[in-house]
Amino acid sequence: MIVLDKEHKLFTLHTQNTTYQMKADAYGVLLHTYYGPRVRGGDLSCLLQYTDRSFSPNPNAAGTCRTYSLDVLPREYAASGGGDFRIPSLEVEGPDGSHTASLRFAEAQVRPGKYALEGLPAFFGAEAEADTLVITLEDAALQLQVELFYGVFEAHDLITRAVRVVNRGEGTVRLRQAASLCLDLPGGDWDLITFDGRHVMERCPSRAPLRPGVQSVGSVRGTSSHQHNPFAILCGREAGEEHGLCYGAMLLYSGNFQAAAERSQFESSRLVLGIHPYHFCWTLDPGASFTTPEAALVCSNQGFGAMSRRFHRAIRSNLLRDPYGDRRKPVLVNSWEATYFDFDADKLVELAAASAPLGVELFVLDDGWFGARDSDSSGLGDWTVNERKLPGGLEALVARIQALGMSFGLWVEPEMVNEDSELYRAHPDWALSVPGRGPSRGRAQLVLDFSRKEVRDHIYAALKRVLSSAEVSYVKWDMNRSLTDVWSAALASERQGEVYHRYVLGVYEMLERLRQDFPNLLIEGCSGGGGRFDGGMLYYTPQIWCSDNTDAVDRLRIQYGTSFGYPPCTMGAHVSATPNEQTGRTASLETRGAVAMSGTFGYEMDFGKSSPEERETIRKQVEFFKKHHHLLQTGDYYRLTSPFQEGPYTAWAHVSPDGREALVNLVTGSTHAALPFTSLRLQGLDPNLDYRVNGGKLWPGDVLLTAGYPIPLFLGDYQTFQLYLEAVDASSPAF
Ligand code: DGJ
Repeated sequence: MIVLDKEHKLFTLHTQNTTYQMKADAYGVLLHTYYGPRVRGGDLSCLLQYTDRSFSPNPNAAGTCRTYSLDVLPREYAASGGGDFRIPSLEVEGPDGSHTASLRFAEAQVRPGKYALEGLPAFFGAEAEADTLVITLEDAALQLQVELFYGVFEAHDLITRAVRVVNRGEGTVRLRQAASLCLDLPGGDWDLITFDGRHVMERCPSRAPLRPGVQSVGSVRGTSSHQHNPFAILCGREAGEEHGLCYGAMLLYSGNFQAAAERSQFESSRLVLGIHPYHFCWTLDPGASFTTPEAALVCSNQGFGAMSRRFHRAIRSNLLRDPYGDRRKPVLVNSWEATYFDFDADKLVELAAASAPLGVELFVLDDGWFGARDSDSSGLGDWTVNERKLPGGLEALVARIQALGMSFGLWVEPEMVNEDSELYRAHPDWALSVPGRGPSRGRAQLVLDFSRKEVRDHIYAALKRVLSSAEVSYVKWDMNRSLTDVWSAALASERQGEVYHRYVLGVYEMLERLRQDFPNLLIEGCSGGGGRFDGGMLYYTPQIWCSDNTDAVDRLRIQYGTSFGYPPCTMGAHVSATPNEQTGRTASLETRGAVAMSGTFGYEMDFGKSSPEERETIRKQVEFFKKHHHLLQTGDYYRLTSPFQEGPYTAWAHVSPDGREALVNLVTGSTHAALPFTSLRLQGLDPNLDYRVNGGKLWPGDVLLTAGYPIPLFLGDYQTFQLYLEAVDASSPAF
């Protein structure tokens, strides 16, 4: 609900459990008065204090008043140059070379339904689900208009934000920074949690107290990156999984980003999230506008678990455009770890034939099917089927796969080109490179300049031809290097600071075209695993290959970290061969299965090499997944223990929204002799109901929530234990 008090210029956003408030003060400055657990409302500017602070300047409009300074007030969207020395959200270079903007309130409007952003990913919401508030600020001297968009999803406790900057003046201005979100909070005693890592070990949470000054993470790799994720949490020192105040902030963007938090001199804190200012400079000619990517906020005073579940629900229902909706997706087998580049049609059909009797439904042909792609040094850019490997093209192969009762999926990497390709020989200037310098290579490939329409059109036409040549129901869109040598032959020198962002817009445009032309196609995002796992990609690709690391024990950490912002149904996860190719670790099929089931679930191995016993286990595993997919894909997710903390096991649960059904998963760590007795305390159940556990005994919900379920002692490392709980209606004596 949005409460617009025009008279007092007071704007209050209520969600079910939170309240967010802004007020334009006597000088027209938009102040941020409150964001936190829901309160009744009223004018919360009573919380603000004014005092004379040395070295904190007073704006010209304040005259001789020395107690009014932008340097100390909580602000909604802070432009640089006006005497606020904290990290800015907006930095504008005027036609005269100045870097000052004074944004003052102009008007506010409420609209039913959620705003959309042209060409950019954004949460969507019908009138019954969301409302929009648009607050317009203006800088009179520059004649610059800044529109702040707020989307309020009351039931999800989610507030989205985006900003549009319009040049209404007669001169050209340049945006040096345009963040999507600025959040000023009282107090400095917060912890900052970011999700960091590297290729094959993405999104590991890192928590540290906010120090005085600015702390930031970000990416300047052109993608959101394996190294840091555009999702961060500010939380109270005491906040944990089930208690405490926390604020999650997510940027729906797949390129360079920065998440910066500052603890100020007077113990207030500011979080700024948006496109990274590195090599960003957007020219706005008179009349032109720039729209930032969207950011989304969730506040919870019941810890990280409740925060994550709010994000998960909102993402599932109002961000993902999944052709399957809540229907079960086919269980897939991917050819990559089974064959790498070494295959022909017969080998692929053999793989599929070994999969079909196990209940696997979708065969995905990964890299190596096109051009002269016999290794990762050649062929990228030439999107025509290699008929030496696949005689008769995709049509012939797909017919053979379909004859086995399976559907077919295909891997592509449209943004890239190998120098050893027909495409590069014909259009060397289509790859990003700086004149006079040889471009850096990554995995022996260069990056196509997707900021250019003719490049996108060429690649899109080739992809469309291939995807139309046979029935393809799934595409894995991969991207395997960071951007370097970012310079576009299509843009003037003063516009080169636009290339990174135009590249991302180009990727989004391509994906949107694909969605429009093939509305039933399931697209999985991928960037060497989880190098572009973000809310932006999720708008186009409702699932993303979570990591190239398929080791089940490492995946516990990767999927745990990912789950803080993103729901399990978005995490591409497969069972692969053991010992694992990335770690050399051996883990049982049961463990690999339980971990992969908490993602999109599939396989990435040659079943022909499995023993009859293993094949039987896999068949049962697939059956189990199909039976419980509704819980796994649409249930609420509870992190019961952390794989990052010393402890005998990692546990998590998927619980139906009504609390009547749950699937609890547990994986033990490396073992020791004479283990102590432990019980696992569950979450999300109804204390007043009794639950039948694994079809056996009845357990009272309140006991499972308080005392927990006693965990049997296991021999061996990395063992798995799954509990299926179902509430029974008639209350009969438990135990
Ligand atoms: C990187 C991906 O993450 C892998 O799963 C696989 O598709 C390879 N690329 C293929 O080159």
